[in-house]
Amino acid sequence: MKKKNRINELKVTLPSYSVNESAARAVVSAFTAQLNPTFDELSDIKCAVSEAVTNSIVHGYRDMIGPVVIGVKLYDDRSVRIEVKDKGRGIEDVEVAMQPLFTTDPDGERSGMGFTLIENFMDSLSVRSSPGRGTRVVMKKKLSALPVSR
Ligand SMILES: Nc1ncnc2c1ncn2[C@@H]1O[C@H](COP(=O)(O)OP(=O)(O)O)[C@@H](O)[C@H]1O
Ligand SMILES: [Mg+2]
Repeated sequence: MKKKNRINELKVTLPSYSVNESAARAVVSAFTAQLNPTFDELSDIKCAVSEAVTNSIVHGYRDMIGPVVIGVKLYDDRSVRIEVKDKGRGIEDVEVAMQPLFTTDPDGERSGMGFTLIENFMDSLSVRSSPGRGTRVVMKKKLSALPVSR
């Protein structure tokens, strides 16, 4: 099997202001567009990024502002790897947090479906976290082959 090669990468750090959820989404979308994803593929990626970045903003840095680091890597086999990292509160039990409908939101404003949505929109999701130190979410998606003429 041919080894895949990285063809481009992006790293941005944004403070966890809530307006930066849409900024992150726009930046990742604009960067990933160079692979010519379909409309649906790009929508899926944007939603996944929104969910992960929102989590860092609302859960990771609940009562404070801190850095959210977003990394995107593009590969020549048309796969995309997106990492979202924060240095926030971290997650007590990742397995439990990833269950559908699980939420620690005290005001009941959130649905508890963020991780489930990411799992559906992307090919893979991995979450590593340590309480008090932060959370790293890695998600991957392989885009469909380009049509011969496009
Ligand atoms: N970056 C993060 N930092 C701290 N806790 C997180 C983070 N991301 C997710 N969590 C925890 O995992 C739970 C589930 O996340 P999610 O599925 O997105 O649901 P929701 O955001 O609606 O609560 C959150 O309620 C929170 O407890
Ligand atoms: Mg969420």
